[in-house]
Amino acid sequence: MDWSITPLSSHTGAEVRGIDLKRGVDADARARLNRAFVEHSVLVIREQDLSPPQMLDAVRLFGEVFEQHNTKFSLPDCPLVHYISNQDFFPDGKRYIPGEGYHTDHSNAAQPPKATVLHAIELPDAGGDTQFVNMHRAYETLPDATRARIDDLKAVHVYQSRHSARKLMGLDPARREVVPEAVIHPIVRTHPESGRKSLYINPIRIDGIVGMEEPEALALLDELLAHATERRHEYRHKWLPGDLTIWDNRCLLHKANGDYDMNQTRYLYRVMLRGDAPV
Ligand SMILES: [Fe+2]
Repeated sequence: MDWSITPLSSHTGAEVRGIDLKRGVDADARARLNRAFVEHSVLVIREQDLSPPQMLDAVRLFGEVFEQHNTKFSLPDCPLVHYISNQDFFPDGKRYIPGEGYHTDHSNAAQPPKATVLHAIELPDAGGDTQFVNMHRAYETLPDATRARIDDLKAVHVYQSRHSARKLMGLDPARREVVPEAVIHPIVRTHPESGRKSLYINPIRIDGIVGMEEPEALALLDELLAHATERRHEYRHKWLPGDLTIWDNRCLLHKANGDYDMNQTRYLYRVMLRGDAPV
């Protein structure tokens, strides 16, 4: 099979062309894809046409499937696959735009998903990009004094932080019992595959920093987020129909944009892959 991996920016993202995941890939290709995933943090596998069960099979090339927290968005016929849609509304009638505001997925799990995979099924004519920022670069470009200050700090992650600007869709009572109350993760983590350090913050989930007063913690988190989300650390993904995009939650923040015509549908399938406890 003749296929290629081409970087999409100088630091984050690569495009894969010439693979049909429906047909499966051999062991060499699988190893190459997994190496590229760790190296580029975002892989965009173009021109796929996968049903939900086919998507599950395809993403198992990269790991084991993680059970997502909010089963409201689970597909009835294939519950490990969820959907992302702009056609859902809060109980008060306000439109729900999933994924707005920078975050990393499900960091309120003791072992957060290492990766999230989206498969574009229906897209608006323009807009709806996903922005990624590279948290390895964010960490490495911090002033020495800031790195020394944060190296041993730990944060408390919850389903919905009191400080989050974005409201999540509430959990059903049955799911509330399964999803952890709060977990503690380091603010600087080491990538288990590359050994590279990255900043691990999440404005929608972090409720506080262990041993730090709230005003000081919030000021520090704001400062780190402002630094991390500078344009120089960003890869902005413009979706094409058929894209299957897998990203590394261990070393990226991402956000969706609700900047398109809401009369048009934006609909993607979502799967997550299991990860380790951050260290
Ligand atoms: Fe997300």
